[in-house]
Amino acid sequence: MYLGIDLGTSSVKVIVIDDNGIITAQSSRVLSISHPHPLWSEQNPNDWLNIAEKAITDLPKKIRSKIQGIGLSGQMHGAVLIDKKNQPLRPAILWNDGRSFKECHDLERNNPNLGSIIGNQIMPGFTSPKLAWIKEHEPKIFSLIHKILLPKDFLRLAWCGEYATDTSDASGTLWLDIKKRSWSEAAVNASDLSIQQLPNVFEGNEITGKISDSVAQRLGIPRVPVVAGAGDQAAGAIGASVINPNDASLSLGTSGVLFITTNGFLPNIKQGIHAFCHAIPERWHQMAVILSATYAIDWCSNLTGFKSSKDAYHAAEKKGTSENVMFLPYLTGERTPHNNPHAQAVLFGLQASTDKATIIHAALEGVAFALADGYSALKTAGGHCDSISVIGGGSQSLYWGKIIANCLNKTLIYRNDAETGPAKGAAFLALHGITGNDIKTICKPSPIKETIEAEKNYTEFYAQKFQTWQSLYQETKQFNQINNDPYVT
Ligand code: XUL
Repeated sequence: MYLGIDLGTSSVKVIVIDDNGIITAQSSRVLSISHPHPLWSEQNPNDWLNIAEKAITDLPKKIRSKIQGIGLSGQMHGAVLIDKKNQPLRPAILWNDGRSFKECHDLERNNPNLGSIIGNQIMPGFTSPKLAWIKEHEPKIFSLIHKILLPKDFLRLAWCGEYATDTSDASGTLWLDIKKRSWSEAAVNASDLSIQQLPNVFEGNEITGKISDSVAQRLGIPRVPVVAGAGDQAAGAIGASVINPNDASLSLGTSGVLFITTNGFLPNIKQGIHAFCHAIPERWHQMAVILSATYAIDWCSNLTGFKSSKDAYHAAEKKGTSENVMFLPYLTGERTPHNNPHAQAVLFGLQASTDKATIIHAALEGVAFALADGYSALKTAGGHCDSISVIGGGSQSLYWGKIIANCLNKTLIYRNDAETGPAKGAAFLALHGITGNDIKTICKPSPIKETIEAEKNYTEFYAQKFQTWQSLYQETKQFNQINNDPYVT
């Protein structure tokens, strides 16, 4: 049996699969997040460790004793700064933290040639500008940094005593040469750091070490190997069998991510496409990332007083669309295509007769339009797909799926276990790395539960509404908090 661990932002999920890749046990524990200042988003790495260990020991003892290997997946981009004693120097700065917008601009201006190596626009969500912020605002901490780890790799350090990461997660630091799949000295030096301060990079299926005796005893697991694993998006794609060129997935979680597997490195820097390594050798991927997906629906449903988000989804479905009401879901800024941490949400077109169900419907459409915006940036970067596998918590609403299928004009596929996401992909990577079995055999697609096709009437309606929705951002961005930031496009 193989254990997959996904260190998410709101929870840690663990899944055990058998030798045929079938899920035999799972558990999860909630994590909290702190926002000490506007735009800040932090978590304590030692909390991750405690909560992950609790989630593992929640699994039945008998199953734990049969585990043969572990795969790790996790929230990407977070900066975990470690001292010589392997202790965190400060709380980790997370993927959805927007404080380093000025540092992004400085890095871009001072290193105009880096783009072709790191393949991505420098955004506050990524790791390198966070380190530039630390250097500027917390120089003492900067001087004490022994290693910089990504979130899941802090668990690896605590359990195996090794500094290691994988190519997909390393891509999101902006220190990796994405084409060569190894650290770029030029990119690392541009941050006034050295490669010695970074972990060793492995392919996702490679074994990086074994858990220590004391950890094995504490967790009730044999002393098994741990594979490098993957960032949560690449791991989610592996779990959904998105491994061949043009295979695509849509992850509907806190953030929304359209992911397309590619044969090579295909960047589109200008429009904020993420061009990263996939978690298997000789594969890459492109992503359009929107920062608020289910987060936007939950936020609107809380604000309008629905008892639960489930009630809100039902009410919106019953109500149907309204021509005028529109929502820009930029509650925590936006990455693709605007790369604007200051972008703000807008609810537009309200009348005395507008009710809360209509507002939720506008939020469902607003997220779908933001994904359509992302898809057109992917297309500009040469990305192509025929159908898209939906994964993550938002896959539970098929009605939302209909809206998204019509806004993207694409077929959406819903498979069994769609909501299990990255933990399953991490377990698949462990099974692959440890047995050497073919990844295509391991990642057999689960049976299809539902297929949603775009419908001509609706695609035409949404194509028109999309144009007005897009102009809403262009017309209102001048009112965003910092409107003369040259970094905002
Ligand atoms: C991807 C991204 C998110 C986080 C949180 O670029 O920022 O997927 O990893 O899940």
